[in-house]
Amino acid sequence: MIRLTRPAIDDHDVAAMADVLRSGMLVQGERVGELEALLAQRCQRTHAVAVSNGTAALYLALQALGVGPGDEVLCPNLTWPSPAHAIANLGADPVLVDVDLREWNVLPAALVAARTPRTKAIVAIDQFGNPARAAEIAKALPDVPLVIDAACSLGSDMVSGPCGSAGIVACLSFHPRKVITTGEGGMCLTNDAALADRLRLLRNHGQTAPGVFAAPSGNYRLTEMAAAMGIVQARKLDQLIAQRRALAERYIAALPALAFQQPPPGSASNYQTMGVLLPEARGGAQRDALIAKLRERGVEAGRLSYALHRLPHLKTWGDAALTRGRAFPASEAIADRGMAIPLYPGMAQSDQDVVIAALRAELGHG
Ligand SMILES: Cc1ncc(COP(=O)(O)O)c(C=O)c1O
Repeated sequence: MIRLTRPAIDDHDVAAMADVLRSGMLVQGERVGELEALLAQRCQRTHAVAVSNGTAALYLALQALGVGPGDEVLCPNLTWPSPAHAIANLGADPVLVDVDLREWNVLPAALVAARTPRTKAIVAIDQFGNPARAAEIAKALPDVPLVIDAACSLGSDMVSGPCGSAGIVACLSFHPRKVITTGEGGMCLTNDAALADRLRLLRNHGQTAPGVFAAPSGNYRLTEMAAAMGIVQARKLDQLIAQRRALAERYIAALPALAFQQPPPGSASNYQTMGVLLPEARGGAQRDALIAKLRERGVEAGRLSYALHRLPHLKTWGDAALTRGRAFPASEAIADRGMAIPLYPGMAQSDQDVVIAALRAELGHG
């Protein structure tokens, strides 16, 4: 089976983790700070706060910005539900906004249209590694704090700088499906010193110093084992991205009949997920049948993402006040016809050729 993705783990990752285990210093040692410094520099930020996963990064970022009951937060409708869950878990309302059919991210105009006096913050996602139009969003809504969900986009590039550098806070994930991994892990990146202090406090039981509690909070810390792995992973980031981009370009050239996600002008994706949008005739059932057919040919593919307004547990909010009659044609199309195909660093070209041939055969593209 040609896997959809594989984490890029080598002997250096194993050795780095083993060193931590032998040291006996498993939490709150030096590795977390070292990883924070590395990624702050890579993302052109002054502060980085490592946390236990990407969802926690989003939750803490919004909490640090003061999001709470009675607030609305604008949130892309096409996504893994983490950002909407983070908003809801703070007692605020996620206001779902449709994405653009080419970029698969929210555009500034859609956010402007969904804004109300209750809008406390915006989450924009660099979906599948494709940079959101962060500078344009900040320009269109300059008085609303912008959180970038950069879970997928470490190593991607906007015109204004690397992904992770935009927004009042950008949130990374180090889940194994992401471009670098620590097993579970995440990070908040910001240039705001006060916000960074607040994030450090919130990640560590609300403590300002050992035993000095300033807010009720939880434990969202990253372990030293995870950080040690993250350091090794971060050092090979550029090489991993180069491989991903080369594989993605090969797919795009070989499959001209398929629609791929489009980066905004001047931006470049890391291709954290290689997504294709199948032709209109192929709805959800046909996409799922195609996934099954590809599996028979030894190729693992998967559905791309979710249209949040259709998830039953979110529907109650969506149906009530929050969608306000807005339609979600693009996120519905991508949720129904979007498919992820295998791409990971170290993928053999011969394996990629098998994927290309299987897709051409199943889609009747010769
Ligand atoms: C867009 C997006 N945001 C947030 C997350 C959450 O990251 P994590 O799995 O590290 O909690 C994910 C990942 O799965 C994601 O794809």
